[in-house]
Amino acid sequence: MSLAQSPFTIAVDGPAASGKGTISKELARHFDVAHLDTGLLYRAVGRRMLAGVDPVDAAQSLTVDDLQADGLRTPEVAQSASRVAAISEVRSALVDFQRAFARRAGGAVLDGRDIGTVICPEAEVKLFVTASAEVRAERRFRELLAGGHDVTLEGVLADVRERDARDSERVVAPLKPAEGAVLLDTSTLSIDAAVARAIEVVEARARDVA
Ligand code: CDP
Repeated sequence: MSLAQSPFTIAVDGPAASGKGTISKELARHFDVAHLDTGLLYRAVGRRMLAGVDPVDAAQSLTVDDLQADGLRTPEVAQSASRVAAISEVRSALVDFQRAFARRAGGAVLDGRDIGTVICPEAEVKLFVTASAEVRAERRFRELLAGGHDVTLEGVLADVRERDARDSERVVAPLKPAEGAVLLDTSTLSIDAAVARAIEVVEARARDVA
């Protein structure tokens, strides 16, 4: 099924390693729309801060090269991303790009923490993808191991919990389900089952707005 209406925005939010990235990629492929992993923007700013750059300056001058740099997926950069993500000037520097992407012709999927609440509250579909902290840590642990990172499960769980707390408790754009969001708990779902459920939600919504 294609999404006849344009723009058509699918907002996918949720905590660290909830499966929102994989679900978003698969939704974009299935419905043939563009995908933006907004976490990469914050990771790129966090990475530059670790290199000594002022985070607001980094956010205001972000380039495509920054988004393609090595090391964006490391736990250190993830922690740094969640620190810079609490700075309101950093967030506001990244808003226009994300909003324009969300409303582009042809449709878009964006995944992050504040897509349905702040970036695109008018999104046609809002999903909030979650899972228990233990399940999310296990998934991220396997991903990081496969990527050659030297990590322990306990360390990854602590990292996930620390970021969840910081992301949920911050004053600007805290992580929370948007009004009208469909909750998708992937704790006991395979990735295929989670993707299938997300596709059903989008199809039902596309029929409603057609
Ligand atoms: O993949 P994972 O869920 O672990 O992280 P990510 O989506 O790449 O996001 C990294 C960090 O960026 C998060 O912990 C948030 O602090 C921040 N972020 C945000 O504040 N708003 C977004 N829309 C996306 C990410």
